[in-house]
Amino acid sequence: MSSLVRRLVVLHGPNLDLLGERPVEHYGTITLPELERIVTDEAERAGWGCLCLQTNHEGVYVEYLHQYRDEAALLVNPGAWTHYSYAIHDALELVHCPVAEVHLSDISSREEWRSRSVVSSVATFTVSGKGPEGYVEAVRRLIALDEER
Ligand code: DQA
Repeated sequence: MSSLVRRLVVLHGPNLDLLGERPVEHYGTITLPELERIVTDEAERAGWGCLCLQTNHEGVYVEYLHQYRDEAALLVNPGAWTHYSYAIHDALELVHCPVAEVHLSDISSREEWRSRSVVSSVATFTVSGKGPEGYVEAVRRLIALDEER
């Protein structure tokens, strides 16, 4: 019997496994397990399941996008790949559900090269610079979009 529980899949890219050790002025002190707990709790409060994955390998990230393209919603933070990975752009084009692109830091107010996202055009919406609160906002918006469908 298939489960009726809607599921959010959260995909973190390179170096986000070391949150808590990264520059505090951009990322604060939160660790990845703590961030994943916040996101999972928010999804579960709405009766959703949540699967959180992280990889430092671009091809693995692309394969996750293929594998989870039929989930109810995706939340992606592709880290530095955001700024140049056309492979991730193209994989996101194949996703069938709403996609939130989320960044802890404000990518528009840092180095010039960070201000461009090559994935925004294939995300449903982007939240940037709001820290962990931005993740909570993205989960709420994804669930609201699902309820509208
Ligand atoms: C990031 C911003 C990216 O520019 C950076 O490479 C990251 C994290 C963020 O969450 O603010 O690794 O996506």
